Amino acid sequence: MSEKQKKTSVNSVQQFGSLIDDAFLTIDGDLTIKEINGACIRLLGENLIGSSLSDKLIYNNLDTEVETCITSGSIIEFSTTPKINQYRHMIGRILPLSDGRLAVLLMDMTLQHNIEKMRRDFVANVSHELRSPLTSLLGFVETMRNNLEMEQSVRESFLKIMDEEANRMSRLIDDLLSLSRVEIEEHIAPSGQVSVKEAVKSAIDALAYRADTSKHKIEFNDVRKNTEQTSQIRGDLDEIIEVFHNLLDNALKYSYPSTTIDVSLSENQTGNLVLAIKNNGDGIDEKHIPRLTERFYRVDKGRSRQMGGTGLGLAIVKHIINKHRGQLFIRSKPKHETVFEVHLPYFSDPN
Ligand SMILES: Nc1ncnc2c1ncn2[C@@H]1O[C@H](COP(=O)(O)OP(=O)(O)OP(=O)(O)O)[C@@H](O)[C@H]1O
Ligand SMILES: [Mg+2]
Repeated sequence: MSEKQKKTSVNSVQQFGSLIDDAFLTIDGDLTIKEINGACIRLLGENLIGSSLSDKLIYNNLDTEVETCITSGSIIEFSTTPKINQYRHMIGRILPLSDGRLAVLLMDMTLQHNIEKMRRDFVANVSHELRSPLTSLLGFVETMRNNLEMEQSVRESFLKIMDEEANRMSRLIDDLLSLSRVEIEEHIAPSGQVSVKEAVKSAIDALAYRADTSKHKIEFNDVRKNTEQTSQIRGDLDEIIEVFHNLLDNALKYSYPSTTIDVSLSENQTGNLVLAIKNNGDGIDEKHIPRLTERFYRVDKGRSRQMGGTGLGLAIVKHIINKHRGQLFIRSKPKHETVFEVHLPYFSDPN
């Protein structure tokens, strides 16, 4: 290859390669890397020129693929992972060039791979969560059908369980629909005005009977300085109530009976509204906290399920708060107070 040709080819890889986010490089027949674009360093690491591509990728038969590519003269495709970051997933394509070198394109498929994995996990979780109550219902139907002489009291207790299981399925479907609705509209910030106090009171009223039954006391304090001027936030009333309701429902479920749940309104340093819900229970180990808003994530699956939980409550909370351009903070330790804080911007439309 003449010097002029070499210069042109180096320029083309760098120039065309700078247009794409994927790694684009050339190698010779023994896999030595000759030219690279900027993305190669990000995806494969430093000091690439002169090294072997097979040292940079986790793929056993790269030399065989290259040989096939040269002899067949056609594009070869393979899936691989870079050695410097084994969480990345790539699709590679090798194309033989007329001067004996080979052009290699490595497309970063990590995002697609993770989305696909999330979708598969989600379908598996939903199926599992629906199957458990359904199996139980079918079992009771079968037992009752085979025992027509069943005692009235046994029959009543079976029907009670069947009723609970059917309600659990119905709640799960409601929560899934709620989650999907909020997710679809998450990018559209709500335009209405919501009275925060009204929303808090509505959530407390809705759970008052439950709190009474478990002998919980719910204390509400508004410690903001100028509550008259700053009582409205930009939002959707039903969704804000849903956030407060879910957090209060958790506080009741996961705290010790006969304890006090503190609900307070205050402001943070940037002047945003802060709703804090504090409760005393077993608390949450630090390692679980970042995962609590994942769909179906429960610290103690058995216990939460026993209480009728689907593990979607906090996922819904997170998406509604995102939609309202707010933030959720969780603080807890085992055997310590648990605090869920919702930070929301006030309504500040000059019109
Ligand atoms: N106040 C709290 N104290 C201790 N643990 C909590 C608290 N709130 C939530 N958790 C933990 O976070 C998990 C997820 O909560 P989330 O509200 O998403 O689901 P759930 O309450 O189990 O079911 P659902 O809300 O869908 O009925 C719970 O299962 C529980 O382990
Ligand atoms: Mg919950």
